[in-house]
Amino acid sequence: MERSLSMELVRVTEAAALASARWMGRGNKEAADQAATEAMRDVFDTVPMKGTVVIGEGEMDEAPMLYIGEKLGNGYGPRVDVAVDPLEGTNIVANGDWNALAVIAIADNGDLLHAPDMYMEKIAVGPDAVGKIDINAPVAENLKAVAKAKNKDIDDIVVAILKRKRHEKMIEEIRETGARIKLIQDGDVAAAINTAFDDTGVDILLGSGGAPEGVLAAVALKCLGGEIQGKLLPQNEEEAARCEKMGIGDITRVLKMEDLVGGDDAIFAATGVTDGELLKGVRYKGTAGTTQSVVMRAKSGTVRFIDGKHMLNKKPDLVIR
Ligand code: FBP
Repeated sequence: MERSLSMELVRVTEAAALASARWMGRGNKEAADQAATEAMRDVFDTVPMKGTVVIGEGEMDEAPMLYIGEKLGNGYGPRVDVAVDPLEGTNIVANGDWNALAVIAIADNGDLLHAPDMYMEKIAVGPDAVGKIDINAPVAENLKAVAKAKNKDIDDIVVAILKRKRHEKMIEEIRETGARIKLIQDGDVAAAINTAFDDTGVDILLGSGGAPEGVLAAVALKCLGGEIQGKLLPQNEEEAARCEKMGIGDITRVLKMEDLVGGDDAIFAATGVTDGELLKGVRYKGTAGTTQSVVMRAKSGTVRFIDGKHMLNKKPDLVIR
């Protein structure tokens, strides 16, 4: 995989963020998602790669673009698997909330888990706590292990978890340990990435969210030297059948880093759409738009933060007014 692809991918996430951030707080998550998807799709045509979408906006008959199996790139360059979430946090943008991202991950062909669109139980940590977590262990044990690995007391630990009814019991268990909690409305990819950066104040992600988001987070954490474990949570016969078709017959099986993203190389790029702990969201002023992105590569472990200033009058297609 060419290292210059990293910068090319940032151009793609920047375009998606610039387009969808216009919808911040307008209460229209579909329009925000559509804007991100169209912008992302357009810019992908210029990227030198032979990409195939393995995680995208849906199956071919459900999504007009960035559907699973769609070919992306200009047809030159490496053959790669592509996972996209043009707008991770559609409700976040609709409500003008925190941590919406435009996200892309790529890996060598065959290296990304083709995660079906269903729930996944997740536990994610940054580099300090790698090898210390076990998704099958009780919450208290994991929090104790993470606190020890980070040289903190358990009541110094901050757990990010989606604020959902299905998590009530787990939240209770976390509270019983004395750990602090960041209840998030949406956006568990950002929360997983945040565990790898001390400044974000997040030590561990727990709870269930989308399985595709689990793979995206795995690529980011592979680049950052962190860890995520997942377990698929099919909700009905049809979802269980999809797991079986994928070769995951035993749904209690723990999906480890190497199951989620194999090989030794992968690239992850994200641009902030709304403000978050790690990345600022898009700002517009007159004919300028500014973006903040992170791009990282597993092979080298290089992590770059990129501030972009975009002259929107020269990129009229990217801006929705
Ligand atoms: P969308 O961008 O598709 O709205 O997903 C946002 C998100 O919060 C993800 O970060 C998370 O994995 C998933 O939704 C959780 O799903 P649910 O809202 O059904 O609990």
